[in-house]
Amino acid sequence: MLFDPVKFIEEVKPQLEQIVDGKAIAAVSGGVDSTTAAALAYRILGDKVIPVMIDTGFLREREAEKVKSMVGNLMPLQVVDVSEKFISELEGISDAEEKRKKFRELFYNTLSELVKKYNAKYLIQGTIAADWVETQGGIKTQHNVLVQLGIDTERMWGFKVVEPLADLYKNEVRDLARYLGLPKEIYNRQPFPGPGLLVRIVGKVTKEKLELVRKATKVVEKYLDSMDYSQYFAVIFESTSSYEPEISKGVGCDVYTYTAKATGVKGDVRAYGRIAKVECNNKDYEKLRKVMEKITSYDITHVTVKVGEDNPEGKYTIGIRAVLTQDFMTAEFAKIDWEFLEKMESEISSLSKNIKEVVYDITTKPPATIEFE
Ligand code: XMP
Repeated sequence: MLFDPVKFIEEVKPQLEQIVDGKAIAAVSGGVDSTTAAALAYRILGDKVIPVMIDTGFLREREAEKVKSMVGNLMPLQVVDVSEKFISELEGISDAEEKRKKFRELFYNTLSELVKKYNAKYLIQGTIAADWVETQGGIKTQHNVLVQLGIDTERMWGFKVVEPLADLYKNEVRDLARYLGLPKEIYNRQPFPGPGLLVRIVGKVTKEKLELVRKATKVVEKYLDSMDYSQYFAVIFESTSSYEPEISKGVGCDVYTYTAKATGVKGDVRAYGRIAKVECNNKDYEKLRKVMEKITSYDITHVTVKVGEDNPEGKYTIGIRAVLTQDFMTAEFAKIDWEFLEKMESEISSLSKNIKEVVYDITTKPPATIEFE
């Protein structure tokens, strides 16, 4: 059935008015979901709602500034800078779920302090259907899924969670955002995960990796912003890898696996496996897709293809990921023209002598997830 934003608002308005009987903090990440949830709540409840954006230090370049100016005429967004604390507490953690859980703890402790400061009782957030379906399924700990996991937010942080978009899917949220008058840069915006670049620093978190992935993200976005891909970004991980003779023989290409691990979803179950790199003479995407399908039957969750030349002095691999999807529950990798990928590669490689190579992710979801962690 076609989603009707007018009907949706008519239904949600009395519910919100009844539930929110005091002040509420609305957490905005700059992504379409949380920004829409905050704009909707602000429109219905007015000054009872205090929209805040937490600068966690894992945002894209000048992100907080940009979002504040994009939503300025719809709601008074405050930016709270806690980046130093977040970075120092997360530095050194390697395991994907440990990072996500630590991030969630820091994030909600910060919101809890804000709730106290403003004498609020509620937290409005933009959790949508796909978030809790996957977290409940144990695929990965989405930072914003709490109530659905049985977490008592009132006891832990002193606020009740209100999720006006919890039953909507991404395309419906975009329709609602457009109706609410959010600018095109928001409603057409590709999703950006709450933990941000943290889940794109694959393996150990370091400041150097954070700065490099932030710069690489800017290059990837510059090249792919005008394409119609659903989501596109860069990741970074250590380049240490080993040759896999048996797997290589099976697919007729050279296959390497990295020590870095990434998240996938196989048979509806979470998988945390290796990242592979294939080097094939034939760069036909149909052939590569078959290679990807075969390789992921091993303990491998993301398959990448090398783009351009190596810098033997470097120590980091930058991965480019671009996907097409309707609901973000399943996804196709984008078949980006090789010459175009090579242009991106040369610009990314020139960012730092510590970048060894650039690879392109050719894994569908499943068996990979969209993010690496
Ligand atoms: P995955 O990686 O699970 O991602 O295939 C599906 C969609 O969800 C986004 N994502 C998140 N969004 N908090 C969010 O707000 C999170 O913790 C989170 N983890 C993944 C991801 O970017 C993609 O759009």
